[in-house]
Amino acid sequence: MNRSQHIESKIRELIDHMSIDEKVGQLTLITSAEGQIPDSLREDIIAGRIGGILNETQREVIHELQRIATEESRLGIPLLVGRDVIHGFKTIFPIPLGQAATWNPTLIEQAARISAQEAASTGINWTFAPMMDIARDPRWGRIAESLGEDPYLTGVLAAAMIRGFQGTDLSAPDSIAACAKHFAGYGASESGRDYNTTNIPENELRNVYLPPFKAAVNAGVASVMTSFSDIDGVPATANEKLLRHILRDEWQYDGLVVSDWDAIYQLIEHGLCANSKEAAYEAANAGVDMEMFSQTYREHLPEWVAEGKLSMAQIDALVANVLRMKFRLGLFDQPYTRAEDFPPVANASFRQAAYQTALESIVLLKNENHVLPLSKTELPTLAVMGPLADDGYEQLGTWIFDGDTALSQTPLQALRAAMNGENSLRYARVMETTRQNTREGFAGAIQLAKQSEKILLFLGEESILSGEAHCRADIRLPGNQEELIHELAKLGKPLIVVIMAGRPLALQNVIDKIDALLMAWHPGTMAGTAIADLLLGNAAPSGKLPVTFPRVTGQIPIYYNQKNTGRPATPETYIHIDEIERGAPQVSLGNTSYHFDVHYTPLFPFGFGLSYTQFEYRHLQVNPSEIKLGESITIRANIRNTGEREAAEIVQLYVRDLVGNVTRPVKELKGFQKIRLQPGEQTTVTFNLSTDELAFYNRNMVRVTEPGDFHVWIGSSSATGLRGEFAIIP
Ligand code: BGC
Repeated sequence: MNRSQHIESKIRELIDHMSIDEKVGQLTLITSAEGQIPDSLREDIIAGRIGGILNETQREVIHELQRIATEESRLGIPLLVGRDVIHGFKTIFPIPLGQAATWNPTLIEQAARISAQEAASTGINWTFAPMMDIARDPRWGRIAESLGEDPYLTGVLAAAMIRGFQGTDLSAPDSIAACAKHFAGYGASESGRDYNTTNIPENELRNVYLPPFKAAVNAGVASVMTSFSDIDGVPATANEKLLRHILRDEWQYDGLVVSDWDAIYQLIEHGLCANSKEAAYEAANAGVDMEMFSQTYREHLPEWVAEGKLSMAQIDALVANVLRMKFRLGLFDQPYTRAEDFPPVANASFRQAAYQTALESIVLLKNENHVLPLSKTELPTLAVMGPLADDGYEQLGTWIFDGDTALSQTPLQALRAAMNGENSLRYARVMETTRQNTREGFAGAIQLAKQSEKILLFLGEESILSGEAHCRADIRLPGNQEELIHELAKLGKPLIVVIMAGRPLALQNVIDKIDALLMAWHPGTMAGTAIADLLLGNAAPSGKLPVTFPRVTGQIPIYYNQKNTGRPATPETYIHIDEIERGAPQVSLGNTSYHFDVHYTPLFPFGFGLSYTQFEYRHLQVNPSEIKLGESITIRANIRNTGEREAAEIVQLYVRDLVGNVTRPVKELKGFQKIRLQPGEQTTVTFNLSTDELAFYNRNMVRVTEPGDFHVWIGSSSATGLRGEFAIIP
């Protein structure tokens, strides 16, 4: 018998011995008493009424809970112990959106590995990550937790995170189960309001929102969490089509499906169910194995079975999925965590990994006249200002329950350290928070700036402004930050801005006033060291945007892989309303697809990011130019570092399928490679693309690759590149 057959026979054996109450107990995931074990919890575990807990992090408490479960309950089934370990446990890595800007699966896998080791050292065996919701709306606060707007990039990076959390062996002491969430479509919440309705036609669902989940299933993800949202009239948590037909039947997924927090009970609020008994039925019947927080299963599933509306076989299938994950985690063999199996949390090598991830996550968006990098000798002549220059908490971002602020390296600390202990850096916080609406502090800031050669501003959003339920209707810099930029710009001194934020911001009002702009997201524990090294040129920026930056909020949704429409805007047809007012002919106003008070392009496109050097792309070759279904083509280009310093570049491959049975995006990312070149060095970057990688769901929801003509680009962003052509012939 192989391991998986062995597990299946153990599961059957256990289920044969379980009462219905013990069965629904396994389907119950409750929240802990955080450090306590009240009598009611002890009794529930002894009686087999609980399958798992979340939010307990004390090793001794978890140990005791596992002891009660395995030694005092009738069947001795260990507990799942879940926690949101989203971008680090004690050592905090950049927010997931920042991690995505590294385009570096190796680093992302390492970050998740370290997070798993730190979390597992306390007895946690399950994280609710990665979130792989496609996010095209930066108003949505949870975009911070996402890997951006692109299905391919999200799938590749989410799979790397899963490998990191789960390791090569899920039963190893330092592996924890990952959770692909939120299945599915949560990122399409109307207007970026969290928990809101989503309306996603099936074709778009299959071509855009589901591929990352499929990649997660292929990567062996141990669990999947349902979305809170309504999708096409049926909340995801009761959505049989998603949970049963697609996830189980089509994809053959045999892991655990958990509801989101209270999401089964919320089927009543949605208006899908009249009461909690109906809610339990709808979720169980759709295929939700485990109920998080609410307890409709425990209260009502036995009644449904007694009434013959749910069969025992249906319940057993849910229970089997829970037990299977426990077996895969090795919990029956070793429910306890031994401290000696783990390196110390937040040790030097973990912090080094957080530093490297932060370093590669930061994106240089503007650098007029090579203001950056600064030289060390300039530091004493600099005015360092802003509410995020020295705030060890805010730089960590959303979802950092267990993060240790005491470990945080702030930019101010790092810049001071770079001055070899000389403490003469000029610094003013200026605003208490990024949301401050008064001009208090402005006079001092202007004074300080006047005495300085250059201005270095740390602006953006506090961590509270993004994350779950933290959505914004206006994504400009909050508070009086725009005004601060305008005031300081009047001095005519070089203005360098570092933004920390959980989302893209709409920077149209200030971008022209800024000479250099670094987008740092929320970089985590090692923010300061990473930012200082980039500012001082100890390393060159290499991050690329995993999401489009709109010019103004009203352009949302704006994303690179859009459809062409019947009337696409072009440089020839586009005309700004102000130009008409200045007398320009109204040739085409209103006849193509754009806002006439902004532009049809975003401020910064997906995939964009500058360096301190330049890369020249030459000699695109596509070989052969015609292929048959089942064959592959090779696309290569020559890339040369024409600047004066060593740097990394993320080389991107895009395609366009010109004609389809359903309309196809104007560009789709199909590959990327991160290369590092010395000044003057060149290399040939090669991509292989099989016709299977060009498949999409057609109008009958069948996945097909269609013969026809394609464009292909190799470039440094979604908006630039060398273009070639090829065809698939029947
Ligand atoms: C979130 C989930 C999270 C869960 C447990 C919910 O509110 O939507 O993503 O895993 O809480 O904390």
